Amino acid sequence: MALTLSVRPIVGRRAKITALGAYVPPQVLTNQDLEALVDTNDQWIMERTGIKERHVLAKGLGVSDICTEAAKKCIAARGIDPSEIELIIVGTVTPDMMFPSTACLVQHKIGAKGAWGFDVSGGCSGFVYALQAGVKMVESGAQKMVLVCGADANTRMTDYTDRTTCVLFGDGGGAVLIEPCEEGEVGFIDYVHEIDGAGGVSLNMPAGGSLNPASHETIDKKMHFIHQDGPAVYKFAVRKMAEATTKLLARNGVTGADLGCFIPHQANLRIINATADRLGMDRSRVIVNIEKYGNTSAGTIPLAMETAVEEGKLKKGDLVLLAAVGAGFSVGAALIRWEI
Ligand SMILES: CC(C)(COP(=O)(O)OP(=O)(O)OC[C@H]1O[C@@H](n2cnc3c(N)ncnc32)[C@H](O)[C@@H]1OP(=O)(O)O)[C@@H](O)C(=O)NCCC(=O)NCCS
Repeated sequence: MALTLSVRPIVGRRAKITALGAYVPPQVLTNQDLEALVDTNDQWIMERTGIKERHVLAKGLGVSDICTEAAKKCIAARGIDPSEIELIIVGTVTPDMMFPSTACLVQHKIGAKGAWGFDVSGGCSGFVYALQAGVKMVESGAQKMVLVCGADANTRMTDYTDRTTCVLFGDGGGAVLIEPCEEGEVGFIDYVHEIDGAGGVSLNMPAGGSLNPASHETIDKKMHFIHQDGPAVYKFAVRKMAEATTKLLARNGVTGADLGCFIPHQANLRIINATADRLGMDRSRVIVNIEKYGNTSAGTIPLAMETAVEEGKLKKGDLVLLAAVGAGFSVGAALIRWEI
């Protein structure tokens, strides 16, 4: 690819993704299934969101199980022993429980003896934020092998009597390994992250934390479900996805035409298409799998990375742009050269 890329200088070393694994639970909830629950229909859901079906985590399992399945795929793909993983970072807003962290549960389940870890709560930007944290740990020289997971079980906090939210969300996620680059490799190039707490009221789960601990009242008032002002989130997402990605590309001397592919958060097909148009990217290089999985929050980007690889749209040496907007509000975008 003929590209004048002014690669950001890094104090320390460069970091790259060396393995990828994604996982969705087998049970599927279709638009037809939802028609039986609320006043909606397949045509409305497809036209307004692009979603056809989503996956649902079985009772008795948690997000740590999604991360564990994805992590095992990474470990097998890289051919490492789990004890070689030094740090585990999990981006999620649906941890198995308030504590311990999901990272602890994953560490135990995969047998990553000797690792340390923590969770990142970044809403739908959770994977991109966790990724950046992992990258910085490798770039600084502090760690050589970091497992970064992004996963959510949104159906656990979805009100299946609320047609404005229940059609949107699904369960799933993925994981990557981050390691130092070899000589001549580029890996992670740059990122643009931002939060805007004024948007907190537009998308949240009001109860279950220290402000509104679980009580009969919080249950009666449905405060353990996702509360969302859909149009407000939509407007912010369209504006910020475009703003963050154009800023990131411009300051690195890259245009949409230079990218191998664009991997956006999968919240709504109309948000994805609006962002792609702003970047001047033809749709064939924009990764979309929302029709199969819906919005899996921190899970969408690693799931879409897997789709990109499977479709032959993400190959060694390609420049790839990631972008997400979510609860917080949170905004995250990253520019990477794919090195596997
Ligand atoms: C939720 C979302 C799909 C709604 O689409 P929209 O085009 O904005 O629709 P509106 O909310 O304006 O509602 C339009 C009408 O459709 C109705 N409607 C909402 N959900 C419906 C459904 N599932 N089936 C049928 N009708 C529905 C509304 O009640 C409203 O009816 P009214 O005009 O009689 O009041 C859209 O706002 C969205 O995707 N927002 C962003 C959500 C998101 O990304 N969240 C996660 C952030 S990471």
